[in-house]
This record gives sequence, structure tokens and C-alpha cells, in this order.
Amino acid sequence: MSTDFEALRRRFPVLERKTYLNSGSYCALADSVRDAFNAYMDERLAIGANWDVWVMKNEAVRTAMARVLRVTPDEIAVTASASAGINALASALDFTGPRKKVLISDFEFPTNAQIWHAQERLGAEVVHVPPAADGYIPLESFARQIDDRTQLVAVTQVCFRNGARLDIAGITRLAHERGARVMVDCYQAIGSMTVDARALDVDFAVGGMLKYLLGTAGIGFLYVRSELIRELVPSNTGWFAQQDIAAMDIRANRPSSSARRFEAGTPPVVNCFAAEAGLKIILETGTDAIGERVRALTRRCMEGLAGIGWPAVTPADDGRRGPMVAVPSSDAAGLFTRLMEQDIVTSFRDNNIRATVHFYNSEEDIDRFVAAMGANRARFGPRS
Ligand SMILES: Cc1ncc(COP(=O)(O)O)c(C=O)c1O
Repeated sequence: MSTDFEALRRRFPVLERKTYLNSGSYCALADSVRDAFNAYMDERLAIGANWDVWVMKNEAVRTAMARVLRVTPDEIAVTASASAGINALASALDFTGPRKKVLISDFEFPTNAQIWHAQERLGAEVVHVPPAADGYIPLESFARQIDDRTQLVAVTQVCFRNGARLDIAGITRLAHERGARVMVDCYQAIGSMTVDARALDVDFAVGGMLKYLLGTAGIGFLYVRSELIRELVPSNTGWFAQQDIAAMDIRANRPSSSARRFEAGTPPVVNCFAAEAGLKIILETGTDAIGERVRALTRRCMEGLAGIGWPAVTPADDGRRGPMVAVPSSDAAGLFTRLMEQDIVTSFRDNNIRATVHFYNSEEDIDRFVAAMGANRARFGPRS
């Protein structure tokens, strides 16, 4: 049965007023996510503190997130952000042995570079893999750098600046052959396409709920492959990371036997309400169908931009592209404002305007964006 994307689109009221191409920054708000926020408020008014239900909400998010990543709930930590997940993981690693190297790419979101550089104090050596002449980072560039001194390859799946998608399965194959582990930062991909942690064979995955997972800021996840959980003891911890949260033991640290050991304090309760509702939409719609839709829309956008003589910097190859089309501009901030005035919501990083697409976008949204770009090309096009 084909998915009724038109009906789904009607569940996101902002789309009636805006051409919303900004899900890579923050998703459009769904009716059911707003209802979930309201349900939390209603409980606070009616009951005050409803802890038993709230803790179950955290578990519901864990279970739903596991389904999205196609793993088990025990392999998911629900965190306050992607950064919190990376920090918890980093705190469990040991850089005093022969494997000191952490390999990252030049496509990383800052947090996935800064946190690894922060480990240099503890012995880590951070090495960056740069793009090739065509702007992409091919597998061969990783192959040259992954060696028997590499402990971890911590790499983004989709670049937040240019929308390029890296070959995570290939990188993982190389890393495992050479005894290294892989953490993927899938924040710019998850929810917009299938991210199957087992098929990719990654050891760790991080992301959050405010973009393509349709939830809110203030909640994220860390996936840890089950076989690795017990050997990793994070020093970045807290009472909700303990095996028995109710024990209130102040004499010892007894981490949970599940990935919950990478959590810390009180769960972000209100965010759990919203995240659960967002994840439900993703699971009901299905990530395969979403991926296909997003691919077709980004392809339409790429072709439209090429047609007006203002090509994107995002790879044209469907397999090398995420849900983002990035377009170079001589004045990206000015173009962003100009598009806003026309009710076209985008974002910009460096010198690129980013149009980020979700399943709720339509062909008309894309055509409207391309037409507006055409009209603004003389003023904001790239410098020749
Ligand atoms: C690829 C990527 N990683 C990490 C982050 C940061 O996540 P957080 O603020 O939850 O730590 C972002 C945020 O935009 C991102 O795009």
C-alpha cells in the first residue's frame, strides 16, 4: 500500500503558512507532538508528580528508538543530547594503551570533534580525514588512515554543511578488519531514511530527536552494541545509570548492565512525551518509505537548481546524499533573510543555503524554493 503523504502533511500546521525546508535544524511540529506536550501539562495540573508514568515514558522512548535503529531496547541510552551521548561514551574509553587514535572527518558537526579533542588531555590523538578534490570523502581516504593504532572512527553519516552522505558500512568494514570501533553520528540522517545499526554494523550511534525524528530539543540517544556494554564503564554517570535506581547507594557506582549505564540524571520527562509521539509517526510511516520520498524530493531539488544554472554542492549520486541540498551563495545570510521574507524557511552554514527535506514536504515546496532561488540568483548567486 502506498503512503498517503498528503494526509500526513496536513498533520503539520506550519506547512499551511510556510514552505518549510528546515527539518535539518528543527522539524515542523506535528499535531500529535503538540498534544503530547499538552498531555504532560494536563498531568502536572491534575496530578502534580506522576513519576511512575513518567519513568515509563522514558522506557517507551527507549523502545521506540530501538525499533527505529532496528536494535534492542537494552542497547539504547536515552540522553539529553547527542553531545551527552558522545561524552558518556568518551568517558568509558581508555587512551593510555597503544590505540590512542580517534579518527574523525572534516565533515563533523563541531560537537563530534570538540569532544574528541577534549580527550587529548587523557592521551587521545585526534586525526582528521579531509575531503578529496571533488569535495567528497571517499572510502579510500579512511582506508589510508585506519590502522592498528586506531581505537575509534567517530564519523558523521550526513554532513551538516553540505548534505554529503558517507559510506558508513564501508568505513565500519575497514575499521573492524583493523581492530578499531566505529561511532556514527547519524543525527542528520535518522528519521529521514533507514538507519539500520546492525546492517551498518556500527558499534555506537548517536543522535537526537529534534530534527527528522519529529520530537523536540533536549533529548537524544546513544546506541551501544550489546557485546560491548559490559566492558565499557563510563565515568560520566549518575543515579539513573545505576543497575538499581531505587537503591540510592552512596558507597559505590554499580552501573546498569544495559546501555542505560550511559545515562545520568533525571530523564527529560516533558521531552520524552514529545519524542515518543514523534517516533510513533516515523515508525507508522516507515523509514523505507520516508527514505524513498526524501530521495525523490532532494533529487527534484538538485535537478531544478541545475536547471536554473545554480547547482548545489551536495553530491548528485542518491547513495551519497542525505536529506539536505546545500547551495553556495555569495551572501548566504542575506539569501536566507530574502527567502524568509517570501515565507520560505531554510538555514545556512558557511557559505551554503541549506534546504532540508522531510516526507511532509511536497513537490510544490521544492518548485517554489527553486523558483525563488532563480529570482534571487543575480543578487545572491555564487561569485564566479
Ligand atoms: C550531525 C549533528 N551532530 C550533532 C549535533 C548536535 O547535537 P546536540 O546538540 O544534541 O548535542 C547536531 C546538531 O545540529 C548535528 O547536526
